[in-house]
Amino acid sequence: MEAFEPCQACHALSKDAGTKPGPQLAGVIGRPVAGDPAFDYSPALRAARDKGDIWTRERLDAFLGDPEALYPGGWMGSPPIRDAKRRADLLCVLGSR
Ligand code: HEC
Repeated sequence: MEAFEPCQACHALSKDAGTKPGPQLAGVIGRPVAGDPAFDYSPALRAARDKGDIWTRERLDAFLGDPEALYPGGWMGSPPIRDAKRRADLLCVLGSR
């Protein structure tokens, strides 16, 4: 959970956590991109969903490492995570929900 702390201001890991500035991330691994029906995503993420993109571990790793490179124009105002170990810890937390 510690790895997820910087994300918590904007994301919840449960479906019933109420409104946050970002989409809830319950079960995000294996979920379609832009898959929280209650969240109004950027055109960049909606386009990815329409293309059929799924959040695989590899895609999430790329997104966390550089959101802007994967989906240019996306709205996630969080800095790229360059440290592969931190991304692996995050994937662990996300995969357990
Ligand atoms: C300042 C707020 C903020 C922070 C901090 C933040 N995010 Fe986000 N995140 C967003 C927003 C807003 C979106 C939606 C982006 C869009 O629509 O383009 C998003 C989207 C995402 C998505 C895609 C979700 C989906 O349903 O497709 C993932 C995965 C994600 N964030 C993970 C993280 C992780 C992990 C962290 C912590 C390292 C983090 N975020 C930190 C605001 C934030």
